[in-house]
Amino acid sequence: MADFVGAIDQGTTSTRFMIFDHGGNEVARHQLEHEQILPQAGWVEHNPTEIWERTRAVADTAMRVADLHASDLAALGITNQRETAVVWDRRTGRPYYNAIVWQDTRTDRIASALEREGKGDVIRRKAGLPPATYFSAGKIQWILENVDGVREAAERGDAIFGNTDTWLLWNLTGGVDGGVHVTDPTNASRTMLMNLETLDWDDELLSFFDIPRQMLPQIKPSSNPDLYGTTRLLGGELALSGDLGDQQAATVGQVCFEPGTAKNTYGTGNFLLLNTGTEPVRSQNGLLTTVCYQFGDAKPVYALEGSIAVTGSAVQWLRDQLGIISGAAQSEALARQVEDNGGVYFVPAFSGLFAPYWRSDARGAIVGLSRFNTNAHLARATLESICYQTRDVVEAMQQDSGVVLDVLRVDGGVTANELCMQMQADILGVPVSRPVVAETTALGAAYAAGLAVGFWQSTDDLKQNWNEARRWESQWNDEQRERGYAGWKKAVTRTLDWVD
Ligand code: G3P
Repeated sequence: MADFVGAIDQGTTSTRFMIFDHGGNEVARHQLEHEQILPQAGWVEHNPTEIWERTRAVADTAMRVADLHASDLAALGITNQRETAVVWDRRTGRPYYNAIVWQDTRTDRIASALEREGKGDVIRRKAGLPPATYFSAGKIQWILENVDGVREAAERGDAIFGNTDTWLLWNLTGGVDGGVHVTDPTNASRTMLMNLETLDWDDELLSFFDIPRQMLPQIKPSSNPDLYGTTRLLGGELALSGDLGDQQAATVGQVCFEPGTAKNTYGTGNFLLLNTGTEPVRSQNGLLTTVCYQFGDAKPVYALEGSIAVTGSAVQWLRDQLGIISGAAQSEALARQVEDNGGVYFVPAFSGLFAPYWRSDARGAIVGLSRFNTNAHLARATLESICYQTRDVVEAMQQDSGVVLDVLRVDGGVTANELCMQMQADILGVPVSRPVVAETTALGAAYAAGLAVGFWQSTDDLKQNWNEARRWESQWNDEQRERGYAGWKKAVTRTLDWVD
């Protein structure tokens, strides 16, 4: 009997392979970054072939370091950056164009035309999403319209689309030699093409973007006892039985299986998901309605999501573009040099503003500066921006669902920043809790894969594995909290209407 489950986590900046035991403990991992291709302002691309090569490399290395073989793994799960669109030729396996990444804003005109033409409400109702550059459909439309020969190939059935889960699953199961073309409802629910009620592609939505249905993968449960297929990636035959978008995977990894439980992942961006149970809850306040997971033939579970485009990447910007820190960890030391933000607010609206504003015309702003301010204030304002954007989303979530959080479960790279997590508790007025296994994204994919093959019996098994490592309680009084938040709201208004 195999003692472990593997997970591929194909993220925005890197791809990692992780191995977990039955207790949900990490046994091994390896991770490699891939190139961020930035051809012009607002455009962000990845090379899908590089991503596939990196996936093979990280899997090989992790298994070698742990001295394990395919037969030691009960199953393999996949989780991925969502929305990022790949279109490739099923006859050659070659992508027609680079992957257009979720952060890319080139489809701004496509998104605003949908609203003008009155299609926005249909998309909101059927797909649970506001028309925005963020989602896959506009990116597919752009490739169909701008890359020679793709439309004809799509009509013929040769050009096929997938998010990076689908791209990897196709390659893992044989590629040109019979690779399967599949995805799961969590990924499909981020395209603007899937109907949330039927969990199938919707012809009316497809017509809005003029996308031929045969381009799209088959949608199968996120935890799939029938398997998506098997792979020989690691030598022996291995079951592929779990597939979830990364934020939904983190929700599973944080064992948010009860309606009313929520997690916030701090990565490139922040993504706060609240489990709302088996009925989709429609947002009146700028949140997304999305599929949280579908396990086997059980009813799908839905979530309300607050997606924030720029959080950890704002810290990277301090490092890479401004050069005021040499590494992410240094942001904490620099911010600690001052006691407060010195009146400075930074709204990192680099890709417009996502939830709850959905304003692609917004651009970043640093406001409130006086001669007194230093790099330390800017570092502090950057960390605060992560927490204030989260507060915006939490406010919207409470209004939509009536759920008042008693604790916020957190994970992701930025949660290593103690100061930032303390600020989060202060700014929200809610305790913040981090689990022992902070790699909840990969863990969630492993859980989905392991549940499908009986490695874990039920979600109750998984709940046993969750343990708190660290908790932060608010140290601010209400007056401080509301004064700070009022400053943030004012700063946000300065970023709007920037792009015509
Ligand atoms: O929706 C985008 C999200 O899935 C990306 O997550 O962690 O790869 O930045 P991450």
